[in-house]
Amino acid sequence: MNFRTLAAGAVTTMMLLSGCGTDTSSASPVPVNTPMSDSTMETIIKMNVGPTPEAPPPPPPGPDCNVLKCIALTFDDGPGGGTGQVLDNLRDRGAKATFFVLGELAEGNPDVIRRMVAEGHQLANHSWGHRNLRSLGPEGAAADIHRTNEALHRIASVWPTVMRPPYGSTSDAIVASVGMPQMIWSVDPSDWKNRSSGYVSNYVVNNTTRGDIILLHDIHWSTVSAVPAILDGLLAQDYTFVTIDELYGHHPLEIRKHYSQYR
Ligand code: NI
Repeated sequence: MNFRTLAAGAVTTMMLLSGCGTDTSSASPVPVNTPMSDSTMETIIKMNVGPTPEAPPPPPPGPDCNVLKCIALTFDDGPGGGTGQVLDNLRDRGAKATFFVLGELAEGNPDVIRRMVAEGHQLANHSWGHRNLRSLGPEGAAADIHRTNEALHRIASVWPTVMRPPYGSTSDAIVASVGMPQMIWSVDPSDWKNRSSGYVSNYVVNNTTRGDIILLHDIHWSTVSAVPAILDGLLAQDYTFVTIDELYGHHPLEIRKHYSQYR
């Protein structure tokens, strides 16, 4: 097995423009490669690695994705009004997922954040307020991600290990400054645009293969309603739903890389 990754040098101006619609928040040209001193960069990276980078806890024993047909469901942009229902459906089927939440929404609904963690799901960082990180510049992006990490740690006592840039929009400088693995996706039903539960569930069930990272948004009721059929359709194909950390298992993620799939 090996990682299918994009090295930092390959994503200079990556704009996937998907996942959450087309970003219209930054009309002016954006300086994507603002120079930053090495010492500033190292300070920011250390900040985002977490409070005790020298003593990370051992990974919990989890499913062996070298044997099982592992896939990772990911839910972005929440928590929202339907997140509890998603958690109910995951619990009822023993499935684990990863929630890329927004810091400002997490602060407004801390109980559902704590429930995610209590039920074995992975809590991950999708920025504070879903601004395009390229519009914030490398240092602003790092600060935004750090603010979100701190809020999630305060709420749920876990420090996120991965982040996903809003809109999948990032750059070499942001990959370097944020100092966390950037987790993109490999299956995208564009559920922000396709508000049909049947379409979303059929797309995911018919387009998923082993190692895929599936992008969904638990802020849309059409997606919330699609979750049971997604779970049942993929369970019928013997897939195992794991978190991002479980998917990568014993292969530690590198902080300056950009991941989209595991094989
Ligand atoms: Ni998003």
